[in-house]
Amino acid sequence: MNVVRIAIAGFGGVGRATANLLLARRERYRQVYGADIRLVAVCGSRSGLADASGLEAERLDALEPDLSGPAFIEASGADILIEAGPSDFRTGGPGLAYIRSALSAGRDAIVISKGALVHSGPELLALARSSGAMLKLSGAAAAALPTIDLLEHSLKGCEVLEIEGILNATTNYLLDAMMNRNLGFDEALRRAQAGGFAEADPRNDTEGWDTASKLILIANFGLDADLTMDELVVEGIQSVVAHDLETWRKQRLVPKLVGSLIRTDAATRAAVGVRTYPATDPLAHVSGKNKAIRITTDAMGETIAIGSGTEPLATAAAALKDLEHILTARAVRSTGVSGGKE
Ligand code: HSE
Repeated sequence: MNVVRIAIAGFGGVGRATANLLLARRERYRQVYGADIRLVAVCGSRSGLADASGLEAERLDALEPDLSGPAFIEASGADILIEAGPSDFRTGGPGLAYIRSALSAGRDAIVISKGALVHSGPELLALARSSGAMLKLSGAAAAALPTIDLLEHSLKGCEVLEIEGILNATTNYLLDAMMNRNLGFDEALRRAQAGGFAEADPRNDTEGWDTASKLILIANFGLDADLTMDELVVEGIQSVVAHDLETWRKQRLVPKLVGSLIRTDAATRAAVGVRTYPATDPLAHVSGKNKAIRITTDAMGETIAIGSGTEPLATAAAALKDLEHILTARAVRSTGVSGGKE
């Protein structure tokens, strides 16, 4: 049995959910991948816990002070880092130092928070490529909604011409509630926060920054583009007023906050803003906190995925999907054949 040591940096709701799901799935990892998964370290910003023989769920409520930081994670001997800390795309946030440290030491990283990836994506990709480490980010790039996986696997070999994404659950929920349930903005936002999918600072959602961040990740990690936030025109839903809602209702149009990207030979152009769709368009039916992506390619036409889940479980599951991809790739590397039985 191959021992695989995991460390989790960032131990809020998503980090904890990821730890619990990881521990609950250990038997699956043994059966399917022949991997003895051990959670050897967890830490938040000021406290943590490490045990080389593996932490059990009941110990995770008693973190010890001053055990935190990239050096603490490195000392745990983890083979794979799961980064789930606070996200700040303007600075890279605390996650950046953890991810840099892991990738430069050749350790695989599964990143859930978007900040470091938006801020320093090309640098982190280059680090991973030079050290041979894997860098996975499903949890950051719309989580339960498959995005980069579609590009990397389902549409492999195709030329991507255009992407349209309803990538932010909060704004989709808010627009839907205001259009169809007559809820005011503040009440709808309160419900989104209670559902655990709104950002701590709701302006990241409502002003379009979360959608823009996910679009940049899809472009830079899924299409090898090199987009930065400065290159995007970003408009949110903060300027939507009652008159707009009334007009759209009369015209039988459905408003969505959309991240869009068009690729030509010359350039990749991307933007975030409200688009309206007639009822004949599948994107008009993406309701509530669902998210969706439409990818148009040269050879496979239009592909649409729609999805969501209950947070924080859905994001934890997206990150652990990445873990299974890593376990498969590791098995292929060591034996030359696929490690999964599925
Ligand atoms: N606030 C985000 C959303 C979830 O509403 O989709 C975290 O990315």
